[in-house]
Amino acid sequence: MDARTRKILQRIDELARISEEPDQLTRTFGSSAMRRANYLVAQWMNEAGLKTGTDAIGNVIGRPRATWPGRKTLLLGSHLDTVRNAGKFDGPLGVILAIAAVEEFSREDLPLPFDVAVIGFADEEGVRYQTTYLGSGVMAGTFDLKDLERRDAAGISLRDAIRAFGGDPENLSSAEWPRTNLIGYLEAHIEQGPVLEENNLAVGMVTTISGQSRLQIRFLGRAGHAGTTPMHLRADALCAAAEFILAVEARARKTFCLVATVGRIQVEPGAGNVIPGAATLTLDVRHQEYSLRVAAVAFLHRAAREISRRRHVKVEWQLVQQAASVPCSAPLSALLAAAVKKHQPRCLALASGAGHDAAVMTAIAPTAMLFIRCKKGLSHHPAESVKPGDVRVALDVMVDFIRQLAQQHE
Ligand code: HGY
Ligand code: MN
Ligand code: MN
Repeated sequence: MDARTRKILQRIDELARISEEPDQLTRTFGSSAMRRANYLVAQWMNEAGLKTGTDAIGNVIGRPRATWPGRKTLLLGSHLDTVRNAGKFDGPLGVILAIAAVEEFSREDLPLPFDVAVIGFADEEGVRYQTTYLGSGVMAGTFDLKDLERRDAAGISLRDAIRAFGGDPENLSSAEWPRTNLIGYLEAHIEQGPVLEENNLAVGMVTTISGQSRLQIRFLGRAGHAGTTPMHLRADALCAAAEFILAVEARARKTFCLVATVGRIQVEPGAGNVIPGAATLTLDVRHQEYSLRVAAVAFLHRAAREISRRRHVKVEWQLVQQAASVPCSAPLSALLAAAVKKHQPRCLALASGAGHDAAVMTAIAPTAMLFIRCKKGLSHHPAESVKPGDVRVALDVMVDFIRQLAQQHE
């Protein structure tokens, strides 16, 4: 394993030790673990010759120390937050590769016709507030200020969490990156799927990033005594939720390329001898085609209402957020494909079922994504892993991509 790859993987391991949970990797928006992660990544950005800062939402940003008005910028980056019990590559690999790519140019003292800045986004997964893309959404100017009122499981508003983290919720617009300044955004990320492994390829080029609908659904029944309430007199919220969850699975299994997931459920009052009075669950629905995704959400809404009528419970249906499917920039992706083909026999173009900050950054810059093979396509799991050789290929591709872009801007 060469020294550059070793350094990247050592940094992955060092960052993975920063967690808000003692025995698993979990780093969510605005936590003290995120603060420590930002601090460590800022140190690495400094070592790469960048000056660093944190913007109003908590993104950590490394920019060239010397620049001048009118000079364009290429952004590289990914997210530093994680899901619960996460793998260590989803997000951080893209940030650490970006820093390594910058180091390549400062090492060779290669002047570029544009600035290269690196972003560690504050919240792509949306674990704490269910609203994904907080960091990139603020940077792209697409953040919905109404979301400042959202509350986490402890009742803390997003507004207060941003302030507690040292951000400025009243001045998020200061974090917007002027689109006139940007020539592009490149994100390297593990594929989180099996396609590159099936094709025995180290890296691939992303064509589109799948749209997603995120909802919160609450079944409201009647709590009661588990020992004295006959079955026919119950309005059991959890049984209604359970029937709904199986309806979600059945619909997704029947619809080609549709995926739908209930990832979290909260039961109240949550005592073993009390009939559940309320069950609140999350629903995540994805499809490349907008019309099929929206039709699936509408179908499941009807199913929830039918179940609630039959079971004499109420159902509250809240669309938390939806993001459209987004194509990557064709010219930038062609440049990326050319760089890939310098390092492997062919460049496979593939769609992303996962969401990425790149989907949001297309609002302000031409965007390209480089996928890196991951073992068995496993992700959002502690066994997430990559091959060191693939990491080196990804770094070399990113450097060649920047070189080719520089030639276009000379
Ligand atoms: O959920 C996703 O698609 C991504 O990992 N945030
Ligand atoms: Mn993820
Ligand atoms: Mn990710």
